[in-house]
Amino acid sequence: MAERFPITIDGRAIEVSAGETVLTASKRLGIEIPTLCHDDRLDPMGSCRMCLVQIEGQRRLQPSCAFPASPNMVVHTASEDVQRHRALLLSMYMADHALDADGLPARRGVGNQLRDLVVAHGAGPTLPPIEAERDRRLDSNPYIDFDPDSCIACARCVRYCDEIEAVSAITLAGRGAKTTIATAGQIGLLDSTCELCGGCIDTCPTGAMTEKKSLLSMVVKERKVRSTCNFCGVGCQLNLHVNNGRVTRVTAPEPGTTVNDGNLCVKGRFAFDFIHHEDRLTTPLIRGADGLLHEASWDEALDAVAKGLLGVKERHGADALGFISSSRCTGEENYLMQKLSRAAFGTNNCHQCAAT
Ligand code: SF4
Ligand code: SF4
Ligand code: FES
Repeated sequence: MAERFPITIDGRAIEVSAGETVLTASKRLGIEIPTLCHDDRLDPMGSCRMCLVQIEGQRRLQPSCAFPASPNMVVHTASEDVQRHRALLLSMYMADHALDADGLPARRGVGNQLRDLVVAHGAGPTLPPIEAERDRRLDSNPYIDFDPDSCIACARCVRYCDEIEAVSAITLAGRGAKTTIATAGQIGLLDSTCELCGGCIDTCPTGAMTEKKSLLSMVVKERKVRSTCNFCGVGCQLNLHVNNGRVTRVTAPEPGTTVNDGNLCVKGRFAFDFIHHEDRLTTPLIRGADGLLHEASWDEALDAVAKGLLGVKERHGADALGFISSSRCTGEENYLMQKLSRAAFGTNNCHQCAAT
């Protein structure tokens, strides 16, 4: 069993396990420490310096996301030194960041955690802007846009792509203020090993990696509707972002809360155009004696299906029927399909694509 010992954070005692970081222990106490480069799913990197805290006995402020607690440690997360550090750090980020007309870090369609931190904590003195010519790439992929001027080089996207997706399509490139996110040879994502999972967008704290569609129509007011992805049988949970009755984007719920742990694949995240597609069938159609399809009510359609199936059974026996369901359906729907097959029509000819 891991060794356990007490530490004190902002005057409150808590017992921690060896190896637990100061950030995690603070979270358990309900003490919020601002972060930028941290993602619970990734190994800590300690690169953004946003989460620095004061630890008694340490000469410098230390990154709480990467600093393991030790017995009887005493931590201050909001001391004067810490707050001065945060304001100055935010000023430095803003001097090197694309800004909106209101002088705050650009929203980039889906939001910007850095902007939220500036609003919440305030920035220090306005510093002269840093003009750095960063390497840019032309990328015709339909989903992901990257803006070097909104990037804080925290490498969350790179680490996500490497540690979670195991794809390593993107990397940090360049030095100093010119550091940016690149692909090998600056090829477009479609030509790289990228799987267009969009996880880099999701983890990016500044919107430097963002959805191309969100840039076209910035949505300020939207409501989130929880749903289950119907592209395969895994059951990933989705948040459908709905604006004026239309789904405008799809994100994963908070990591650690659902089976997909904040991850989605290209279909779950981006393939939602079908929802409002004009070719989508929204009314049942029945082929009439004239050979053409005619709109019908659901009752009429279900009656026609039942009549057709019973007719086949009467003429050729139950085993002339076959029932096929899909891994896109829920477990309950698949259960009902086999029940219909076996109990209602009397045949074991039922199958589901995930069974092969
Ligand atoms: S979309 Fe997924 S695979 Fe492509 S660069 Fe981003 S994280 Fe990597
Ligand atoms: S694109 Fe976003 S996640 Fe990637 S390094 Fe830049 S700020 Fe960090
Ligand atoms: S969150 Fe700790 S250094 Fe970035």
